[in-house]
Amino acid sequence: MATLNFLTGNSGKLREAQVLLEPLGWKVQQFMIDESVPDIVEPQSSDLTNVALAKIAQAVELLASQGRMNEPLLVEDTGLFIDSLLGFPGVYSSHALKTIGNEGVLRMIDENRSAHFLTVIALWTGELVEVFTGRCDGQISAKISGNEGFGFDPIFIPDEDDMNRTFSEMTTVEKSVFSHRSKALKSLFDFLQQDGP
Ligand code: IMP
Repeated sequence: MATLNFLTGNSGKLREAQVLLEPLGWKVQQFMIDESVPDIVEPQSSDLTNVALAKIAQAVELLASQGRMNEPLLVEDTGLFIDSLLGFPGVYSSHALKTIGNEGVLRMIDENRSAHFLTVIALWTGELVEVFTGRCDGQISAKISGNEGFGFDPIFIPDEDDMNRTFSEMTTVEKSVFSHRSKALKSLFDFLQQDGP
């Protein structure tokens, strides 16, 4: 099975990539140096693609420092964009979760509950960088629900789910039917298939 390195400190993101890509023949392993996930700097930018590109540039330098430049490696950046808040928290999603949390987000919004997740994946193929995106439209729930997943999952209901569940009320496999991340990962998989694992 071919191996794909994923530079992330988020075990939820890693698990979702593994659940989606491993049945398709790609082993996804967390990129580590000396048994820990290396720190990379997230730049301040109003654009998720710029953030992902800045992350992959640093990740490729780390690969080079390990003499592993020919290995494929991915990074990703995700944001939750709430319509009634003019796209907030967006690129500030991580900061918003750490400060106001899901309770704070629920307090900020009113009747218009439309929102979407956007994921940008930057892949170092071993030779060049490719970018993949995935979007999931949905609604912010009236209350926090469910125990699965991570981040904003307990307050986000994807429009495509007939059962009106938050992501946190789904298994990882069920979330991957609808999620922004799985859409980006599927595009990445289609790209990788051109050469085969
Ligand atoms: P990051 O900067 O890409 O790590 O993500 C920004 C914030 O969004 C983090 O606090 C994550 O927990 C959250 N987040 C990322 N992906 C998801 C998701 O699929 N569901 C819910 N929250 C997410």
